[in-house]
Amino acid sequence: MHSTIISDQLNKKEKYDLLVQQIEIILQDDTNDIALLSNCISALHFTFHFHWTGFYFVKRNKLELGTFQGPVACTSISFGKGVCGTAWKENKTIIVDDVDQFEGHIVCSSLSKSEIVVPVHNVQQQVIAVLDIDSEHYASFDVTDQLYLEQMLIKLSLLIEKLISNI
Ligand code: SME
Repeated sequence: MHSTIISDQLNKKEKYDLLVQQIEIILQDDTNDIALLSNCISALHFTFHFHWTGFYFVKRNKLELGTFQGPVACTSISFGKGVCGTAWKENKTIIVDDVDQFEGHIVCSSLSKSEIVVPVHNVQQQVIAVLDIDSEHYASFDVTDQLYLEQMLIKLSLLIEKLISNI
């Protein structure tokens, strides 16, 4: 497995287009699910230089910290709490331009300024996880991120479901 560095000179869409290809290559690797998902998160994180990028898995009736890149984070989040718990409860992607303006935002790092949380669904359309991305800049996320990430998570959902069933 060779790591590809996606150039900072590209615009957001160009980066996502290359990232989609990179993730397809990552998923061809014949190894365990944690390795595959960790490499996907790493590719996403380092392509955009996010502050924190990772999954919370729905497990034992709460969100439990899963595969991630970034500083130490809280290990569990209740239904409806924080941005992640709200995205789970409302079953929709949430974009927050300024985390201080989101009532109930869970502060894991004071460097985090904006975020996007995208639910992951199984085939029955139940939320099985959320992808949480935090940026050190205000208003980092828009509908382009939402569309690409939602598509990406459709491709990763079987892998995530399999991984969650084994933890
Ligand atoms: N931002 C999240 C908390 C998780 S950490 O930022 C990784 C929230 O309010 O749901």
